[in-house]
Amino acid sequence: MKGPILRKVHPMPLTTRPLTPDFGLEILDVDLRHLTDDLIAEIDALWVAHPVLLVRDQLLDEVQQIAFSKRLGEINIHVRTDIRSRSHPEVVMVSNLRLENGDNIGALASGEAKWHTDSCYKPKPDTGSLLYALEVPEDGGKTAWANLQLAYDALPDAIKAKLEGKRGAYAYNIFDVDITGDDDVKNIRAKTPDVTHPMVLTQPVSGRKGLYLDPLQTYGIEGMAPAESRELLDELTTHVTRPEFVFEHKWRRGDIVLWDNCRVLHRREPFDPMVPRLMKRTTIFLPPERYPVPFQV
Ligand code: SIN
Repeated sequence: MKGPILRKVHPMPLTTRPLTPDFGLEILDVDLRHLTDDLIAEIDALWVAHPVLLVRDQLLDEVQQIAFSKRLGEINIHVRTDIRSRSHPEVVMVSNLRLENGDNIGALASGEAKWHTDSCYKPKPDTGSLLYALEVPEDGGKTAWANLQLAYDALPDAIKAKLEGKRGAYAYNIFDVDITGDDDVKNIRAKTPDVTHPMVLTQPVSGRKGLYLDPLQTYGIEGMAPAESRELLDELTTHVTRPEFVFEHKWRRGDIVLWDNCRVLHRREPFDPMVPRLMKRTTIFLPPERYPVPFQV
């Protein structure tokens, strides 16, 4: 592994390179422990333009990850208590590590995490996710993102017309429940009543449109019969996750990836359960003046 880059002064403008020809950007030569207004303004501008950003070789503790996250949007505390860091509730552990009693210390363990988008089960989702890699397996455990705006652009006009003005219905992890510890499903569902969100979101300023759906949590489309909406949701999922709309990332320790849940879906490959993987996630409310959101501002 390349050693971490320790910098107090960042060259501006930031140096970047594309992650794919179509979407995503890697930001080079930054140290996120040293935050300045200029650095944050530039990262925000890059994030507005690119739904996925990668920064490598970071050395962050939880306080520093939270401090960085808070500069980009209001921080969220996850509804599940069993996956929060014991030191800082703003941090969610995503890991296969277990406590002595067998409980997982965080979410997702080592199985496949199927295509989904974080927080869409809420009326006002915290749409920005920042995932920081502390320990990663050599094989497996890659994460992929699928671009909902590119996918929308490529939809046939007839489907675009069908989706116009339609709202999807959501329930917390209705198709894939992975709950441990104190938070049973009933408990979480009681805290997260079903919601609806537009099937198409528009990004302010650019006016760019994107699909909005979650294969694990969108269970219907308002105004459509259940079988018809199921068929359309499945068709849209297949469309969105076509290889030309997807970026897949092989993690290195020290990587932090920022993504906008209103512009991408993501999934995580399974990996050997005996190999440790430890990631820490923070989520934020991205400013609705610049980022698409599924609610009225
Ligand atoms: C997530 O689904 O939020 C986490 C993805 C990962 O573990 O790579």
